[in-house]
Amino acid sequence: MSPSRYHPSLRVLHWLIAALIIAALFMGTFVMARIQNSDPSKLFALLKHMTVGMLVLALTLMRLFIRPKTRRPTPMFSGITLADRLVPYVHRIFDVLVLVMIGSGIGIAVLSGLPGAILDGNVSQLPASFSNLPLHTLHVFAARVLAGIVALHVCGAFYHHFFLKDGLLSRMSLVARQ
Ligand code: HEM
Ligand code: HEM
Repeated sequence: MSPSRYHPSLRVLHWLIAALIIAALFMGTFVMARIQNSDPSKLFALLKHMTVGMLVLALTLMRLFIRPKTRRPTPMFSGITLADRLVPYVHRIFDVLVLVMIGSGIGIAVLSGLPGAILDGNVSQLPASFSNLPLHTLHVFAARVLAGIVALHVCGAFYHHFFLKDGLLSRMSLVARQ
């Protein structure tokens, strides 16, 4: 028989990864993109962003390793045919987008000499802007798509929880069931 909830390790990883991705999206859009590369505070903001990004990578690799070894609850349906067909793909697109974000982020860092600038603590080693790099365009585009899919995913989870009242959220909940 299928379990009624995801494996505890997958539940913990889901919420850790979700919190870190949301933090990276906010940090990137509302903090880093607004600081000029010539501003000395940029280095620390980039260091924090890159650390969060690399943590997401480590936890996502753990999730991808653990997931096939665990038994998962059977799919739950909302009754909206298109949404029900898309959900499995959306979950896999999350993984692809996260890997694109991290690959392009590392690419921007390497091509712009960011690790050296951080090690030397010298902001003048940074290019005037990252936006000339095609990988930066990809990073920004993937971030927008990721934010959109996260919003859809959250709406879906709330639709199940508040309208269908089918207990979907409890399958991913960290709280022990009464
Ligand atoms: C960046 C944020 C998030 C990402 C990347 C993400 C990703 C995922 C993925 C990949 C799955 C599928 C798990 C699997 O099959 O192993 C999933 C399931 C789930 N997520 Fe998220 N999630 C995020 C945020 C959220 C939030 C904020 C909520 C709730 C408000 C939520 C609620 C759920 C629920 C309830 C499931 C289980 C769905 C089911 O049992 O079919 N997620 N999430
Ligand atoms: C899940 C992981 C990540 C997410 C969600 C994310 C998100 C973002 C966002 C939203 C921006 C701002 C884009 C803009 O509007 O201009 C950004 C910029 C950037 N990210 Fe990431 N990022 C991630 C991982 C990484 C990693 C791992 C690195 C490097 C190792 C990195 C390096 C950068 C750099 C260098 C910028 C440019 C900052 C600027 O334009 O001033 N990111 N990221």
